[in-house]
Amino acid sequence: MAALGASAEIGDLARLRPPKYPARPPKPVLTRPADVPRRRLGSIEGRIALLHAIAHIELNAIDLAFDMSARFASEINSLELDCLAFLRDWISVGGDEARHFGLITHRLSELGAAYGDFPAHNGLWETAENTSDNLLARVVVAPLILEARGLDVTPGMIARLRSAGDDQSASVLEIIYEEEISHVACGKRWFHAICNARSLEPIETFHALRAEYFTGDLKPPFNHKARERAGLARAFYDPI
Ligand SMILES: [Fe+2]
Repeated sequence: MAALGASAEIGDLARLRPPKYPARPPKPVLTRPADVPRRRLGSIEGRIALLHAIAHIELNAIDLAFDMSARFASEINSLELDCLAFLRDWISVGGDEARHFGLITHRLSELGAAYGDFPAHNGLWETAENTSDNLLARVVVAPLILEARGLDVTPGMIARLRSAGDDQSASVLEIIYEEEISHVACGKRWFHAICNARSLEPIETFHALRAEYFTGDLKPPFNHKARERAGLARAFYDPI
């Protein structure tokens, strides 16, 4: 890693553009969101469907983190920001996401299922593709909108799993939830650093990119406490 500090090697990194599509296993079959199984958590089938959907999100999150580091490191370098810190941060996030994927797939196996047993949709990666030429848009959409949305919905899932008696799955989601707060915080840190390097006003820039690159609304209810822990001020998602 230290060797990447040399400018020639950063240049080499810039030429190594990541692929348009990450390598994926032959299953799950990718389908429309409406065709992905629903998640009624009172039954074991419902809990398996939920865990399968989360495993798919985690796999996309692995790809998004490593894509971020490989695709945009040279741009960070050209902004005279700390390229090694950027690589270290997103590779570390990718490592967390890989661990999350392992935790979820292990839990699926305890329930007699496996990743790939059900169809999944490709919405997350399509979002990544839409922002593949715009570093700030990627930071806005991936960590600051989609991962932050995960902070809003995960506590409810944990509560429903606990009330269904599935403490093991709930405990896995609790680990993931805590670590996702640090991922949103990482996105927020880099968002500000890039805005600062380009002399952009952060809140105005966030909302302009959100309107251009994110289809849909930022949906309440918001988990203000977790968002605050991630350093995400209300002006970024629920301006009064
Ligand atoms: Fe994750």
